[in-house]
Amino acid sequence: MEIRGSTTVYGIIGYPVKHSLSPLMQTAAFQEAGIDAVYVPFEVKPEHLKTALDGIRALNVMGVNVTIPHKERVVEFIDFLDEDAEFLGAVNTIKNVEGKLHGYNTDAVGFYRSLVEEGIALKGKTAVMFGAGGAAKAVGYALLKGGVKFLHIFNRNFSRAKELGDLLSRLGNVLVYPLKESAVETVLPTADVIVNTTSVGMKSSDPHLFDYSKIPEGKTVVDIIYTPPETELLKAAKKKGCKVVNGLGMLLYQGVAAFEIWTGRKAPAELMKKVLLEELYG
Ligand SMILES: NC(=O)c1ccc[n+]([C@@H]2O[C@H](COP(=O)([O-])OP(=O)(O)OC[C@H]3O[C@@H](n4cnc5c(N)ncnc54)[C@H](OP(=O)(O)O)[C@@H]3O)[C@@H](O)[C@H]2O)c1
Repeated sequence: MEIRGSTTVYGIIGYPVKHSLSPLMQTAAFQEAGIDAVYVPFEVKPEHLKTALDGIRALNVMGVNVTIPHKERVVEFIDFLDEDAEFLGAVNTIKNVEGKLHGYNTDAVGFYRSLVEEGIALKGKTAVMFGAGGAAKAVGYALLKGGVKFLHIFNRNFSRAKELGDLLSRLGNVLVYPLKESAVETVLPTADVIVNTTSVGMKSSDPHLFDYSKIPEGKTVVDIIYTPPETELLKAAKKKGCKVVNGLGMLLYQGVAAFEIWTGRKAPAELMKKVLLEELYG
């Protein structure tokens, strides 16, 4: 592409940021949509976060994504927060509106849309979620806003599970448990949708979260991990005739939502997906 005086700048702030797939995905989207913009990675150390946000205003950077470790701390430097970002206390997308920074969280909507695209309905369902970290917050929120009737949360660190349970119980019926085999075995048969939001499964040497032979047959099992494309959990679920979904859709649709917030235009989701698939799985 040609960079001109009129070219606008978007980007992602994180630390580290080298691993991010967003520059590839968003650059392709801007090009496809014929928008005169670039999207670049900004490696921002935690101690420079405020300065970086002032820089966004000063340099008229039109929008950025925010990734680890800044999603929560960035909130204090934002001028306006949308409803999801306010509830979650975390921002992954910023739009610069005439020097005022508007903060959004598209992780929740990204997760939700990834299920909708797979034809998975949540209304009145029972969900079992593993994990209580940053991603779990957005996923649990999306599950409850999407209409699940009961959300059971398992986490290794129980106090973290309780903290998340306290927050999410404002939206519906939430029960929390320590990650113990006996409790998992009791609750799992009641599940319609099982979701892994922990990082367990990224490495082939990872332990199993629970005894995967206990996955009930014919359910929906979602793992928000996208590399590898099929974790041990998803492999086991497939053998049980479950519908399985990995984390590629969540990654894709958080980016689609960010693009649409920035540009007010429909994102070229098919192309963005193709770019991600090629980069991740070759
Ligand atoms: N698809 C997407 O777009 C997307 C977006 C965000 C994140 N993710 C993925 O989601 C995963 C979690 O990210 P995060 O930001 O939520 O991380 P995080 O805040 O660090 O949380 C990590 C979670 O994993 C659990 N965990 C880690 N090792 C474990 C083990 N050996 N046994 C049991 N539980 C373990 C932690 O439990 P404790 O609390 O007990 O430590 C915690 O619940 C990562 O794999 C990330 O790649 C995907």
